[in-house]
Amino acid sequence: MNSFDNRQILLYFKNSEIGNFFLEQLILGCGYPVTMVQTIEEALVVAAQNNFCLVITEFDFDSQGTSDLIVGLRKVNPFVFFMVYSPNFSPQLYTEATKFSISYIITKPIDIDYLLFCVKSCVKQHSFLWSLRKENEIMKEQNVNFQKQNISLVKRLEDSTKNLAKLYEDLRSTYLRTIKALAQAIDARDHYTHSHSQNVANYSVRIAERLKLPLREIELIRQAAELHDIGKIAISDAILLKAAALTMEEWIEIKKHPQVGAQILEPLTFLSEVIELVRQHHERFDGTGYPAGLRAEAIKLGARILHLADAYDAMVTPRAYRIEPFSKGKAVEEIKRNTGSQFDPQVVEAFLDIVESL
Ligand SMILES: [Fe+2]
Ligand SMILES: [Fe+2]
Repeated sequence: MNSFDNRQILLYFKNSEIGNFFLEQLILGCGYPVTMVQTIEEALVVAAQNNFCLVITEFDFDSQGTSDLIVGLRKVNPFVFFMVYSPNFSPQLYTEATKFSISYIITKPIDIDYLLFCVKSCVKQHSFLWSLRKENEIMKEQNVNFQKQNISLVKRLEDSTKNLAKLYEDLRSTYLRTIKALAQAIDARDHYTHSHSQNVANYSVRIAERLKLPLREIELIRQAAELHDIGKIAISDAILLKAAALTMEEWIEIKKHPQVGAQILEPLTFLSEVIELVRQHHERFDGTGYPAGLRAEAIKLGARILHLADAYDAMVTPRAYRIEPFSKGKAVEEIKRNTGSQFDPQVVEAFLDIVESL
């Protein structure tokens, strides 16, 4: 007998009128393998070694035997079906059979056709349950494999995201380095304004630190200071390096540089906050600056800081139009004189606190 054959039937009769041999021959005649036992111990041993689909047994209410057998066999094989034989039908038999989920009850006189119908029906139902169980196991296995694949995909996705983030960061810093190189090249066009952007960056950061601005904002101000005059790329040397006073038309050209600078940087969307500071770095506190004529708090604090740092550096370094620079004292006096008109008083206050150490 093949122990994995799921059509096997177990007969357990210790003392029956039905006749074990008769029943065995009847079931074997239907093509189902049969095992016959006469004790519960024997039944449990063979049940552990074989895949029975149906157990046919007598129902004995007077002893624990039948219920022990049912409970014991279900522990070994939860899907097994039960048919019970009892000489007489009674409501108590029906109640007990229902309690133990017995599929069919056979009583005297035995109807052979009905008995075979019950056997075939149990074999069929068990076979259906068995295939469902197998499918369920396969699905569980597939599920485990899917989960493994999923974990591996998530890991690959995380790695790719990290690589992408690194690439993006590399690209960002490459862009920034390129733009800064450009800004330095513009400073270098005029030997008088050499290092101007770097000086403005140093002063701006010192003022921003004095104002206790958040680190992120200080970093934005530093970047904006390094790039603030990038729009001067569009101004010709004839105007930019002119030693004499500028004509009205030339001033109009000069005044375009904050807007031109913002336009140059605009495609670099990650610099959006920096770009706004570049655009506003010539706005004055009283609204007389350019390009928009913004007033007071309408000008970003970072731009108000840049404006003062820019003006201070222009005063204390030589220029084409003024070879002799202001002394630090004179520049400070000039800034104080323009507090509240050109410069934001709170920015001036912070500047005065640190100017000695510049
Ligand atoms: Fe400027
Ligand atoms: Fe400047």
